[in-house]
Amino acid sequence: MAPQQPSDGSALRRLIIGYRVSQALHVVAALGIADLLKDGPRHFGDLARSSKTHAESLYRLLRLLASVGVFTEQDEGRFALTPLAQHLRSDAPDSLRTRAMFDGAEGNWGAWGNLMISIRTGRPAIEHTFGKDLFGYLNDHPDEAKIFNEVMAVQTSVATRALLDAYDFSEIRTLVDIGGGVGALLAAILHAYPSMQGILYDQPHVAADAKSRLASTSVADRCQMVGGNFFESVPVGGDAYVLKHILHDWDDEDCRWIIKNCRSAIAENGRLLVIEVLNPPGDTPHYGKFLDLQMLVITKGGRERTEAEYRELFASAGFTLSRVVPTESDVCLIEGRPA
Ligand SMILES: C[S@@+](CC[C@H](N)C(=O)[O-])C[C@H]1O[C@@H](n2cnc3c(N)ncnc32)[C@H](O)[C@@H]1O
Repeated sequence: MAPQQPSDGSALRRLIIGYRVSQALHVVAALGIADLLKDGPRHFGDLARSSKTHAESLYRLLRLLASVGVFTEQDEGRFALTPLAQHLRSDAPDSLRTRAMFDGAEGNWGAWGNLMISIRTGRPAIEHTFGKDLFGYLNDHPDEAKIFNEVMAVQTSVATRALLDAYDFSEIRTLVDIGGGVGALLAAILHAYPSMQGILYDQPHVAADAKSRLASTSVADRCQMVGGNFFESVPVGGDAYVLKHILHDWDDEDCRWIIKNCRSAIAENGRLLVIEVLNPPGDTPHYGKFLDLQMLVITKGGRERTEAEYRELFASAGFTLSRVVPTESDVCLIEGRPA
């Protein structure tokens, strides 16, 4: 008999209760269940002993996740990893374990519980929930901050590999990474292009951190760290300015300030390299549409944009959008040239 298509009602109900799956994934990720299963199937009672949990409740959790393809229940209450669950292992390449841990943890989960506030007011729900923005919240919760940083590190390494495959940086002599964080992207590009010079620009304490992290690497002598405020100015002398995951933190007006400062500093034949998730127009399913709402909940004015929105933003700040380079990861490189 051909499998029945789910009715619209049951498809919608699956979406409505999807949050139960998100929270269930958070719990197994936090407990490290996939790591406990990496050497083969184990009985739920045994897993409960190792994870210090209530055996019958753990069984019910694993049974739910097995029903959606994460883990599989074998004979007599023994559970095993599925291809999906392999990605929850800490040692999986580009592991999603910390992503599941962060999304269901108190800060993010609590903020999303107040999504209605953001929709009514346009303000970040996280501020309503905890009285702080995301970074203020993370400063007070070092355990969640550690997980967040790990999520970011995994994302950066995935995106960096994809960018190096997709874009030819070879004609750039000096690359300036604006808001470059602790320098992971810049170091990887300098490593791949041995005659390139780099300038990392970020808030003074972040630039100082980047300096100590990169000090012992092979690119240290080709990379300057400069502290400052990108709303005031950015270092001159670059022929390419990278903005990776900067513009999606800010509203259009703030973005214009940052881009205009790049325009004042850039060589006339230089390139602006914006690296962001690009939202396709219309109903097309895309991760960017989830990230966009995440930005609404946790930032003041941050958003994911479409190509048309970037084109307009560039034009209003002295650049022409010259091309969009897709990559194998979620991000695209959106290239601008001085207008
Ligand atoms: C979302 S992170 C992106 C970091 C890095 N580009 C990446 O993709 O991993 C935003 C960065 O902007 C920096 N930043 C925020 N406000 C800034 C400002 N006013 N001036 C300079 N850097 C700033 C932060 O310190 C942080 O490193």
